[in-house]
Amino acid sequence: MKVAVLGSGGREHALIRALWRSKSVEHLVSIPGNPGTAETAKSVCFDPGDFDALRKFVRKERIDLVVPGSESLIAAGVADLLAREATAVFAPDKEAGKLESSKAFASEFRTRYGVPQPRYAVVDRMDEALDKARDFLSEFGGVAVKADGLAAGKGVVVARDWETARKAIREALVDRRFGNAGRKLVLEELIDGEEISILALVDGVRIVPLLPSQDYKKLRHGNTGPNTGGMGAYAPVPWCDHRTMDEIRQTILEPTLRGIQAEGFRFRGVLYAGLILSPRGLLVLEYNVRFGDPETQAVLSLLESDLGELMLSACRGSLPPEPLSWKDGAAVCVILASAGYPRSSSHGDPIDGLSAAQNAGAIVDHAGTKIVGGRLVTAGGRVLGVTALGPDLLRAADRAHEAAARILFHGKQMRNDIGRVGNSQGASKIGPVGSRNRVP
Ligand code: GLY
Repeated sequence: MKVAVLGSGGREHALIRALWRSKSVEHLVSIPGNPGTAETAKSVCFDPGDFDALRKFVRKERIDLVVPGSESLIAAGVADLLAREATAVFAPDKEAGKLESSKAFASEFRTRYGVPQPRYAVVDRMDEALDKARDFLSEFGGVAVKADGLAAGKGVVVARDWETARKAIREALVDRRFGNAGRKLVLEELIDGEEISILALVDGVRIVPLLPSQDYKKLRHGNTGPNTGGMGAYAPVPWCDHRTMDEIRQTILEPTLRGIQAEGFRFRGVLYAGLILSPRGLLVLEYNVRFGDPETQAVLSLLESDLGELMLSACRGSLPPEPLSWKDGAAVCVILASAGYPRSSSHGDPIDGLSAAQNAGAIVDHAGTKIVGGRLVTAGGRVLGVTALGPDLLRAADRAHEAAARILFHGKQMRNDIGRVGNSQGASKIGPVGSRNRVP
């Protein structure tokens, strides 16, 4: 089949790698792609958000399957747009996309279908928001202030004191820092704990989790520094054993699927449940309706099943009943970011050492790179993802960090503890992943 992946980041490169390994996939196109995806997929350089151009391209090239990478394409209705074409789209429709594009909708959805989550309030007036924030601070010692709409990963402020909470609320509701995305807010009980990401394939009838993963939001070692789009990830998660996965299926994934069905959503794609381990058990912090970045780089490196076939069967409402097939061991992805990230990013810095990293056995996914005058240079905040596999998590982590150290560019930023500690503040070391932790 002919597959088009939409987007140009590290996640899209990892999707292309996994689709390239799929026997079912004969032709791969990347719109617009990046210098890394161009090694295996044909780059077609237009903005996939230009839906007129996209529809024409898909028709003309007789694309069988379209895989959008980012939430913005889904929120703009890419699946609805192509619904009448002879092309399968591995993504939910715009209505179902509200599970990610409206945090208020998602919180209320979880309440309706009994999915465990932190206590929350939806507010759109200053006085009400301040009152609630005060209550949350005194009851829980902190409050998460979340913009309702899509805010490019910048819409959440964690406040442990009144001043921070008040400022965040004011910036969103009065100063309109996030435009309309911040007209409404979700205030949430603050919970400190380890977070895990569950990516699950959905065909409308079944929900099939991939290996559990953890990503690291903080810029610096020890989970310190500012929040980023993600500085690394690993899979599977040692403490997320069979029993925990069963609990996740029963208490989170199945009720979510029942909700999707009851709301009449057309959801054929991937659901990402961001969970936190709290004293009350696992709670859902957020849903996304697309693959996570950089979780995808780690998780798909371990997938042995044919991803193209899985995606197409999900689109047709018939995911195969057999369990997915995974490589043994673990995968760790270390992100290399450019100078200034996350506040800004540095462009045009020459990148060296890619072959040295690959010779060390690592996979390198491109995110913010471009070729200028025949030279690979930085072109964004997150530049590359370096993923290594190993028989256990610690050995995968050693390999990934060692390979990542071989890549050099001016101002490079990377963490040295991905896969070696958990992702909460004050996280302790994590043990090796054994086969007993495999997800069936
Ligand atoms: N890794 C977090 C995300 O993709 O939203």
